[in-house]
Amino acid sequence: MKRLLVTGSSGLIGSEVVRHFHELGWSIHGIDNNQRAVFFGPAGDTRWNQRRLQDTLPHFTHHELDVRDRDGVMNLVAELRPAAVVHTAAQPSHDRAAAIPFDDFDTNAVGTLNFLEAMRRVAPESPFVHMSTNKVYGDAPNEIGLLELETRWDYRDGDFKEGIPETFRIDYSKHSLFGASKVAADIMVQEYGRYFSMPTCCLRGGCLTGPAHSGVELHGFLSYLVKCNIDGAPYTVYGYKGKQVRDNIHAHDVARFIELFVAKPRCGETYNLGGGRDNSCSILEAFDRVESLTGKRMEWSYVDRNREGDHICYYSDLRKAKTHFPDWSLERSLDDIFTEIVDGWRQR
Ligand SMILES: NC(=O)c1ccc[n+]([C@@H]2O[C@H](COP(=O)([O-])OP(=O)(O)OC[C@H]3O[C@@H](n4cnc5c(N)ncnc54)[C@H](O)[C@@H]3O)[C@@H](O)[C@H]2O)c1
Repeated sequence: MKRLLVTGSSGLIGSEVVRHFHELGWSIHGIDNNQRAVFFGPAGDTRWNQRRLQDTLPHFTHHELDVRDRDGVMNLVAELRPAAVVHTAAQPSHDRAAAIPFDDFDTNAVGTLNFLEAMRRVAPESPFVHMSTNKVYGDAPNEIGLLELETRWDYRDGDFKEGIPETFRIDYSKHSLFGASKVAADIMVQEYGRYFSMPTCCLRGGCLTGPAHSGVELHGFLSYLVKCNIDGAPYTVYGYKGKQVRDNIHAHDVARFIELFVAKPRCGETYNLGGGRDNSCSILEAFDRVESLTGKRMEWSYVDRNREGDHICYYSDLRKAKTHFPDWSLERSLDDIFTEIVDGWRQR
């Protein structure tokens, strides 16, 4: 059996990747220490997801390890010599990072370096997939001319009608400390690919989502929005008239892309991986969608102050991902995503 190492295995993307590769017949080793509950409190707890993996997947082994523990990472990687690594563990919140800059950087930047170097020493030929983020572009996408439509912003500039490409500049903009620590990791992953010829890639996520997200106000936009609707809890919209646009991709479609990259890797690549224009929606549009599914009105209020460095309109240009991997396309539509998240919260 081929051995896969997944960091952040109890989280949204990590757990989806675990299940996906398990079904493909791999043996999976997951690393997670429920740090999400430390970052976001009890609502961020991911133990439920860890237990679900352990209870249902016979070839899954959980390792309680902090990705910042360099010796622990070196020893485990040397023992396992994985045939591939999918690195999803992170401090994932833009807004949370300012309050915990050391935890954020040590987890996102240093944690990533720990795994890159550990892999270079024992299995440099194994594919290494890193979950990066569209926040590496900072708020530079906000400089693109915009059209204000009734319920959303959109790009006025025809050059971006397919979305933001990987060649978009990553500096001279405001990133948040989170975006900056993810840039450090992203560049390091590319460098291990270019300098050491290791098969690495960065997946610069848009809004990654699905029913397995433990959504909280500071991270997991759709999951949290749906949860508020179901619980009748108040939701706060920060700035941009609620017309800010996010592109949403189901964790299943992320896992499928990772499968294809692992099967046919390249060195030091970057891919923008979101829902693209077809799976994009504004917050106002998301309210309409969830209300029509649950029949419950959204309780929301508006604060006329946007989040620091927040994107006004962002959707990913998926053409590079589709050109390099022609067998990949989105299997889950925005309708599917909403329906699954609503069902997921109802069950939980
Ligand atoms: N969800 C999104 O919308 C989104 C968007 C763009 C990029 N990303 C990136 O994708 C990756 C996965 O995101 P997600 O939504 O699955 O996040 P998540 O928070 O659901 O999962 C991350 C997991 O990593 C674990 N973790 C965090 N710090 C750790 C540490 N120090 N040691 C061990 N485990 C640790 C957490 O406990 C959690 O279970 C992250 O790198 C994130 O930055 C996510």
